Amino acid sequence: MEKKKILFVCLGNICRSPMAEGTFQKILEREGKETNFEIDSAGLISSHSGELPDARMRRHAQRRGYELTHRSRQVKREDFDRFDYIIGMDAQNIRGLKELAGTAENIGKIYRMTDFCQRMNDSEVPDPYYGGDSGFEYVIDLLEDSCEGLFKFCNE
Ligand code: 4NP
Repeated sequence: MEKKKILFVCLGNICRSPMAEGTFQKILEREGKETNFEIDSAGLISSHSGELPDARMRRHAQRRGYELTHRSRQVKREDFDRFDYIIGMDAQNIRGLKELAGTAENIGKIYRMTDFCQRMNDSEVPDPYYGGDSGFEYVIDLLEDSCEGLFKFCNE
């Protein structure tokens, strides 16, 4: 079976998209489906390249049993060749990805994370960077819901 390849994208690749990657990874482990998928995350900006996720994001993640070890990297045009699904967290991410995509075929690979929500009702995974603890908790709530929906979507 062809591997499904998913790239999660946010602005800095230190909060939301590494959390999305960690959440989806845990679902794959639970379901015994790790070998069927290739997942990664990236950011529209390069200012945090090489860094671990934000310490606040890691702390909130750890409390729910997630260990985030991804190193930040910038998304690039070639990612559209490598991945089948490129998933942005908010409208700004989607705009940036569409600019980078270049072709209609590439644009067709772009999805919005919250479109996979099943329980919660929001149109974006909001940027938690300048907010407080509740923002980080809300990001994880949204990602746990939407990653379950994404997993179902990929297995239909
Ligand atoms: P993320 O959060 O996009 O969820 O990783 C942010 C991280 C860094 C910045 C903004 C948002 N920043 O402006 O440096």
